[in-house]
Amino acid sequence: MVVSDGPSESRRALATGTSERSVGVAGTFALMELSEVMRTTASVRAFTDEPVTPEALYRVLDDARFAGSGGNKQGWHVTIVRDPALRRQLADLSASVWERYLAEAAAGYRSFNPIDPAPADVPVPDGLSEHPMLAGVEDVPELLVVTVDLRVLAVLDRDLDRFSIIGGASIYPFVQNILLAARNQGLSGVLTTFLTAKEPEAAPLLGLPDGHAIVAMIGLGHPEHQPTKLKRNPVESFTTIDRIDGEPFTI
Ligand SMILES: Cc1cc2nc3c(=O)[nH]c(=O)nc-3n(C[C@H](O)[C@H](O)[C@H](O)COP(=O)(O)O)c2cc1C
Repeated sequence: MVVSDGPSESRRALATGTSERSVGVAGTFALMELSEVMRTTASVRAFTDEPVTPEALYRVLDDARFAGSGGNKQGWHVTIVRDPALRRQLADLSASVWERYLAEAAAGYRSFNPIDPAPADVPVPDGLSEHPMLAGVEDVPELLVVTVDLRVLAVLDRDLDRFSIIGGASIYPFVQNILLAARNQGLSGVLTTFLTAKEPEAAPLLGLPDGHAIVAMIGLGHPEHQPTKLKRNPVESFTTIDRIDGEPFTI
């Protein structure tokens, strides 16, 4: 992962656990260790005023594009949304879904769950909290909408009699790579999926062609606060030998 210009840089990188990389027009920048990046890529929904430079955003996408996808079809598209009026429209559509998400949770449901869905008439309580990124969407340094061309997906569970999951696997690794690549440069962000629930309304605003789907709306910027201790379950809690109900894998 460490790329450097010469032997002395390599030695410095080994000693400090970081390195610098030089990438053409994008310049030289510091890199973090991969494991550190993976363990500290938190969801950040509030950003400082500091802009994201075009070079930094380019580098994020230039790293993210190495994500795998079924058949290497790379069906992603990224729309960088800079028009404040368009941002507001997308945020308002998203905010209505956030409200529904909170309402389902308040009624004791796992929000938007496909197996045990909340009833359509779930009550919407008063005083629900605003989503911080959507509330201030005009001030988010960069707002990306990731879409995918469904016509290039290979969806191996397409014909099973259950909720389909495989299609997302050709696009969310790319989305995660965006967040990891951002963190690698000291940027942060959050993946939101609210907008997909409003795809019929959002699609014409974005000029989305038929056969394409909205995957995520991602805010990126310099974090107001960067959490570094993420709450995640231990390996033993989700890894077993031979069967799902087998012995936990541990060392
Ligand atoms: C598929 C997916 C969809 C998500 N959708 C949203 C979203 O719509 N809005 C949001 O604020 N966060 C969203 N998140 C972020 C999660 O809330 C976050 O990953 C989780 O709470 C863990 O928080 P942490 O990364 O800060 O530890 C999403 C994450 C994933 C992986």
